[in-house]
Amino acid sequence: MDSNFNGKKMDRALLKKQSTDNAVEEIKNRLDIIETVSEHIVLKKSGRNYWGLCPFHKEKTPSFSVNAEKGIYKCFGCGEGGDSISFLMKVNNTSFWETMVMLAQKFNIELPEAGVTSESSEYKKQILEINKYAAEFYKKMLLENKEAKNYLLKRGINETIIEEFSLGFAPVSADELIKKYDKDILQKIGLLSFKNRIIIPIQDEKGNFIAFGARAMADSQGPKYLNSPESPVFNKSRSLFGLYQAKDSIKELDSVILMEGYFDVISAHSHGLANVVATLGTALTEQHIRIVARYSESRRIYLAFDSDEAGVNATNRGAEIIKSAFSGLGEIRHFDENFADSTVKQDRTACEIRVITTNTGKDPDEFLREHGAEAYKELINSAPLLIDYQINRIINLNEKISSPQDKAKLGKEVIPLLSEIRNSIIRNEYIKLVAGRLSIDEESLNIEVRKNLQKVTYPQANKNGLLFKNQEEKYVLAQKNLLSLYFLNNEKFAPLCINNYIKEVELSDTHLNLIKKHIDEIIDEFNDSDKLFKELLNKLAENEEAKKVLTDLIYRVEDKKDLNFELLEQYLTDHILYLKTYQVSERQKQLRASYYADNNDDTSSELHQQKVKELISERRL
Ligand code: UTP
Ligand code: MN
Repeated sequence: MDSNFNGKKMDRALLKKQSTDNAVEEIKNRLDIIETVSEHIVLKKSGRNYWGLCPFHKEKTPSFSVNAEKGIYKCFGCGEGGDSISFLMKVNNTSFWETMVMLAQKFNIELPEAGVTSESSEYKKQILEINKYAAEFYKKMLLENKEAKNYLLKRGINETIIEEFSLGFAPVSADELIKKYDKDILQKIGLLSFKNRIIIPIQDEKGNFIAFGARAMADSQGPKYLNSPESPVFNKSRSLFGLYQAKDSIKELDSVILMEGYFDVISAHSHGLANVVATLGTALTEQHIRIVARYSESRRIYLAFDSDEAGVNATNRGAEIIKSAFSGLGEIRHFDENFADSTVKQDRTACEIRVITTNTGKDPDEFLREHGAEAYKELINSAPLLIDYQINRIINLNEKISSPQDKAKLGKEVIPLLSEIRNSIIRNEYIKLVAGRLSIDEESLNIEVRKNLQKVTYPQANKNGLLFKNQEEKYVLAQKNLLSLYFLNNEKFAPLCINNYIKEVELSDTHLNLIKKHIDEIIDEFNDSDKLFKELLNKLAENEEAKKVLTDLIYRVEDKKDLNFELLEQYLTDHILYLKTYQVSERQKQLRASYYADNNDDTSSELHQQKVKELISERRL
């Protein structure tokens, strides 16, 4: 009886472990390294790999590389590397299992042995549930409230749009919510402060209700908007209103329009413009930009802020944020295709920033309602590139200035703009234009601009190894180079063959040793570079340091893939010889040290004789 019971218990434990393994396996399969990394940094394809600014150290030119095929990343600046899981652990500062739990939730995969589910993720879940319920409640209330429905109708918002944005109405009483949920939590997430207001739910990319905006219906009711406070599920600097509704269109049109207000976005949608999002009453952040960049491949961004002074300032600040988010990824597209330098490769364009300005109507919503969708589309189509917008603005504002001091001051404003233009013909044309319109001496402007020219360098793939900061000892480097050959993916140098070559090489590095040990164990079964690599990743799943080294090997083999058979063989034998010689000379050093340490001993002692013998025989190798 007893043993039977134990047996069952064992079975259950085993089953649980198996289904955990399966879940982990499925999570790994679902992970896409480009998708994972792109949630945090902007990637640009260059050569075989993708490049971006490393999130783990500060840099201005990208040395962070992602290999989509292998599902790994490596930073040539700081040396970080690994797979999607390593990336998430590092970037979120979570443990392996915390990361797994998070991913299981994201992919909706049941993870039986997840250890303790973290408290914070439970709390997040709870907030999302309450918000979802609240959104439903507000929606129902809107249908029952004539005044609220009329308010929306007057703003040109029909039922389709109400449905699409899940718009609602918060009555004075929140009793319905209080009946169901803890009052403290409701208070904490702001749901008790919305009274007699139109409710505009804020959704994340997956459609979860993460927060609410609440607009007063009458001018007498202040403030105009109330918003949910930040919470574990709502971070203003990372949330964009309307993204859930806009993302498909952004992808399709390969462009995104950034506006300022809730109703600008809603109004744009009701006029058939769907690639529109808005920040939530905060300044644009680099995170916002990175998020939209995931959907627009060419990163074509239209700034459509209000036409008042605050809007103009927001445009200029926003432009700087965008440029900074993409700095180092190539050129900012400053010119229409017609004018662009055809020698500059398309994939070196970091982004394209255009500015939509309306002369009438304070914001896009007002313009759209006044002039209609077609007129706005015309504004989009003729929207100037950022540099034209900025230069024109400076010219228009300053055409009347005349004192030399004012002109010099003005120069300071235009010079940084002009020196961003890298094509010298185009740059000179702009200099001519500015000098002419503002009657400044062209040559002087030219000189000042040249002083200011910035060089933006873009690293090419690791062709001549320049990106490798060769700080590691040559010895360890040689070992890495050697082991990397397991991943050549070359028929003539299959893993088993490499294994034969390097059988006798000793490895000094612990991680390399561990990797080699695993290789020896599985090589008979995985005599294929790709399969071997995948299996090694599995074996080392929870060993971040070893995974980093393994990643390094994959990157290291890239530039050897083009070598022909003879050169590869020579490379192999050269390295083996170097390593063996190094090992011998190291051993000699040790022996010699030990030999001299014996100086006052009897030279005829057996131990001493043995040492002399070893020393001599090693030398003969
Ligand atoms: P605006 O004042 O331009 O409002 O604020 P709006 O979007 O044009 O609103 P309508 O058309 O009058 O209804 C722009 C954005 O700033 C935030 C909101 O996100 C708003 O959409 N805001 C503004 C607040 O959060 N609180 C406020 O009191 C005002
Ligand atoms: Mn408005």
